[in-house]
Amino acid sequence: MSKQAKQRILSGMRPTGKLHLGHLHGVLENWKRLQDKYECFFLVADWHALTTSYERPQEIPSNKDEMVLDWLAAGIDPDRATLFVQSEVKEHAELHLMLSMITPVSWLERNPTYKEQQQHLKEKELATFGFLGYPVLQAADILLYKGHKVPVGVDQLPHIELAREITRRFNYLYKDIFSVPEALLAEVPKLPGLDGRKMSKSYGNSIFLSDPPDVVRKKISAMITDVERPRMGDPGDPENRCIAFKLHRLYLPAEQLEVIVSECKAAKRGCAACKKELAEAIIRKMDPIWQRRKALAADPGKVKAILADGANRARKVAQSTMAQVWSALWNRNAK
Ligand code: TRP
Repeated sequence: MSKQAKQRILSGMRPTGKLHLGHLHGVLENWKRLQDKYECFFLVADWHALTTSYERPQEIPSNKDEMVLDWLAAGIDPDRATLFVQSEVKEHAELHLMLSMITPVSWLERNPTYKEQQQHLKEKELATFGFLGYPVLQAADILLYKGHKVPVGVDQLPHIELAREITRRFNYLYKDIFSVPEALLAEVPKLPGLDGRKMSKSYGNSIFLSDPPDVVRKKISAMITDVERPRMGDPGDPENRCIAFKLHRLYLPAEQLEVIVSECKAAKRGCAACKKELAEAIIRKMDPIWQRRKALAADPGKVKAILADGANRARKVAQSTMAQVWSALWNRNAK
């Protein structure tokens, strides 16, 4: 099958540093599956990170390197997918500029994540032009590669909707050169953090892909279980009340889960031992990822080369799209 016959996927992540199990099960495993069926472009959205971290931009490069190590360790394959850094393909800025000409400010002000994030990140001054234009930059990311499908989480749906509106407006005003991109929502397991809230770096409740076995053991041993079961002699209710059991479900085989449920309900199993079993199961599952990560971290030249090659591949596509964009504008047929 020729490459053109495959639909394109474009997705990206802001470089926030080390990734955790939530990213692994929520995003990376999905990306990994998509590599088989689609021509994939995965971008490190460092300019997007700048919209909120412009006061500490120096942290972005190392965050970017840690994140790419995690991508590769998790099985994102640079021979099949194009992995690259947004700021290394300047066409992202060029298309962002062009699309900003046709994007009404009111569309951006209506974007729910714009207001939410300003509330959420109160300590930062986010009433900036760049932050308002965040979704325009994201639309540029997608359109440069003519992405058909955009795998994202639900939180990103308003941005994809805006990208769709901007695409339609471009096609209507100039020339129908873009297919309207579609969000691809994956079914993701809800992953609790160590304290029962959603696993998130900012909550300090995460297990990172780069955590060595002993750190995993320590973190899991401190994890919340069933708060209504203070003593081992009390019968538990793992399926409805235990936080740790949500992870057991993800990492242990069904037969073992059955044993745990019946022993816990009969007050024949303590939480400490139960969490030890969980930690060992996580460690077994993570082992190949750690091994790959360690090997890659020891060879920084290799990761650099992967990203340089990715940027070259991405740039070719991006330049060809930009040629079509400018041609559509300068040769616009009178309507
Ligand atoms: N905005 C996305 C996020 O915060 C990251 C991102 C940047 C992205 N460009 C993209 C996602 C293009 C999908 C497509 O998570």
